[in-house]
Amino acid sequence: MSRAMIIGTGSCLPERILTNEDLEKMVDTSDEWITTRTGIKTRHIAGAGEETSKLASVAARRALDMAGVTPAEVDMIVVGTISCEKAMPSCACLVQKELEAVNAFAFDINAACSGFLYGLDLADKYIRATPDMKILVIGAENLSSRTNWQDRNTCVLFGDGAGACLVTGSDQERGILASKLYADGRLWELLHMDSAPSLNPDLCGQPSDGPFIKMVGKDVFRYAVRAMADAITAVLEKEDLAIEDISLVVPHQANIRILKSLADHLRVPLEKIYINVHKYGNTSAATVPIAMDEANREGRLQQGDLLLICTFGGGFTWGAALVRW
Ligand SMILES: CC(C)(COP(=O)(O)OP(=O)(O)OC[C@H]1O[C@@H](n2cnc3c(N)ncnc32)[C@H](O)[C@@H]1OP(=O)(O)O)[C@@H](O)C(=O)NCCC(=O)NCCS
Repeated sequence: MSRAMIIGTGSCLPERILTNEDLEKMVDTSDEWITTRTGIKTRHIAGAGEETSKLASVAARRALDMAGVTPAEVDMIVVGTISCEKAMPSCACLVQKELEAVNAFAFDINAACSGFLYGLDLADKYIRATPDMKILVIGAENLSSRTNWQDRNTCVLFGDGAGACLVTGSDQERGILASKLYADGRLWELLHMDSAPSLNPDLCGQPSDGPFIKMVGKDVFRYAVRAMADAITAVLEKEDLAIEDISLVVPHQANIRILKSLADHLRVPLEKIYINVHKYGNTSAATVPIAMDEANREGRLQQGDLLLICTFGGGFTWGAALVRW
């Protein structure tokens, strides 16, 4: 049976770095508070020419280069994003144009911080049906454009960036062994972002203080740890594996305390959990593909290794995937 095998990874971060010290000059906060509560030290903030689709295109090109595949060979592009510079067309269509991937169909997925994982799961389903497809799966965000820079509760947490991978069919034991996705829309208010104000005269009276990310941090924290731990247990059980069999866990990067708590729940040493939240903050759908690309380029993923991916985000959406590298 064919399954989706990752044959190239890439990532792209904007040039400008915003430090905790910079934030101290913008809102009533401190490096000490941000570091102890979140583990974040710096985040990258997009400037002109670094729109979501541009970051996504650079990350995708790097993944293609690693795989030795040309844009014309790509059959499908899927982008997980909640912050593309345009509502229409999709970010994926803008990437298709930028890359000149003229033979690909393209669309976005809105699953917030789980968008990349949802895309990877979908790519795997396509490949199980049509193994010779080549699919670009991307997570890309410009959350700085959706951040209320006067709200210290949220503005210290997020950053911009993009990550990508190229997948194709594998007949070997490599690829996505198992995945499991979840959602619970009943909890949407705990983590959400309004759309642009409605232009429909019957709806435009609805109050909104801006299309910013809003969050009940403590509740999100609690759900995130339990949900990711449960999703990981579910995919391990599917394959009759134990956490001890795993070489590396690449989780959604939101907060170092969430990652430490996840390690405790799973009873794995922190060294088995890939962490880069201190450098980039929470880049939503982009955190996992950026982290996966860094781990790959650092040599922390070797052929045959078992990799676990897990995510949690607005919706709520969450899930996990087990990959043999
Ligand atoms: C947001 C988060 C870091 C806050 O940490 P916390 O320990 O829960 O902190 P609290 O919400 O209890 O806030 C404690 C105090 O710090 C204050 N505070 C909030 N942000 C602050 C900041 N940037 N600087 C200084 N003080 C801040 C609060 O106003 C509050 O003050 P008060 O007690 O006078 O009201 C934490 O809840 C979290 O990480 N949640 C998950 C968020 C997340 O990852 N979301 C995305 C998932 S995809």
